[in-house]
Amino acid sequence: MAGIYIHVPFCTQACYYCDFHFSTSLKLKQRVISAMKKEIVQQKKYLDNLEVKTIYFGGGTPSLIESDAIDDIYSTVQRNFILSDVIELTIEANPEDITESLVSSWEKIGINRVSLGIQAFKDQHLKYMNRVHNSNQAFHALELLTKSKIKNLNIDLIYGFPNLSDFDWEASLDVILKFEPQHISCYSLTVEKQTPLFQFINKGTYSKLNPEQANRQFLIARKKLINAGYSHYEISNFSKDGCFSLHNTNYWNKTHYLGIGPSAHSFNGTTRQWNINNNFKYCNAVENNMQHYEVEKLNRKNIINEYILTMLRTSRGIKQDWISSKMTESEYQKFNKQIEKFIDLGLIQKNDNSLSCTESGMLIIDSISSDLFLI
Ligand SMILES: C[S@@+](CC[C@H](N)C(=O)[O-])C[C@H]1O[C@@H](n2cnc3c(N)ncnc32)[C@H](O)[C@@H]1O
Ligand code: SF4
Repeated sequence: MAGIYIHVPFCTQACYYCDFHFSTSLKLKQRVISAMKKEIVQQKKYLDNLEVKTIYFGGGTPSLIESDAIDDIYSTVQRNFILSDVIELTIEANPEDITESLVSSWEKIGINRVSLGIQAFKDQHLKYMNRVHNSNQAFHALELLTKSKIKNLNIDLIYGFPNLSDFDWEASLDVILKFEPQHISCYSLTVEKQTPLFQFINKGTYSKLNPEQANRQFLIARKKLINAGYSHYEISNFSKDGCFSLHNTNYWNKTHYLGIGPSAHSFNGTTRQWNINNNFKYCNAVENNMQHYEVEKLNRKNIINEYILTMLRTSRGIKQDWISSKMTESEYQKFNKQIEKFIDLGLIQKNDNSLSCTESGMLIIDSISSDLFLI
């Protein structure tokens, strides 16, 4: 089994916190779409005839480009890869783009999962983030999508930013729960270098984030969503009725995937590669059949550390037998000593062969994983 990720590198406006690759100029739109189709053909051997089970249009803002272009890219994938009979076909969407006719054209293409970036419901919070949409547009998009034939809906929300009171956060979650989406992603706002948010905080025009608030709001979401019947299967992800994101689990299960488009990453079991994160340079390289990506051969240490980082975030946790098969005896002894310490502190729990974070552990997950890394 394998997956394909297609990065659509355009947005209407730059959200202050975002460091994903995108351009707010649409000048190169047609050229990038053509280059992506060409890249799909160039990379047709990358997945080694593995059956593709998930295709994910992410971004950037895939809902910004015409559904004909999405269809065209999808058809190019169909012609060049072996697709499973049943696939998860996801598109990320921003609320301001959602119209009845767009949703109906997605249904016709066969899109069966939409990930909608609501982020917040109050206009003042959306303005703080520099989102394009307002609260009315968020409700309108939710109504159109829950009425549609696309039955697998994910909602993205952000917490932990100044002025989001615990009361506001609970209210946002309550609103979302009324729409009964199958999947909810709750992201703690992170301040990434080279974003306007980072500069505003440095200059003092925006307040610093408060980690205690983020922890409180993480626990509020966890409690509320679990009580509402969602499974907390990954630190930022909650799903109902087994509708976890197959695409995300590909990343955690080391499934091979191909990334198409500027900045997209690929993984084939032994190497990781990432495409040029510049639309113009990406087009030039693909058009001229030049290498448009950098490759990194993964060594044993990278593989183990990535496994710890990603699997500790999931409810399935780290498999001890996998770790022991990859580490030397002395490395494994050291690892186990560290694990025992975390178990005594109530941060890690052991269940048969698997080690996962307790609720207290989830609050300091980054420092736990870095203490477990091989250095
Ligand atoms: C990169 S966006 C792409 C999808 C779409 N354009 C949107 O904004 O929803 C995917 C998700 O990452 C979240 N995200 C990006 N940067 C983030 C940050 N610094 N902190 C928390 N969430 C972030 C976005 O808010 C969004 O929910
Ligand atoms: S969060 Fe989404 S809409 Fe905002 S800049 Fe990033 S990719 Fe674009």
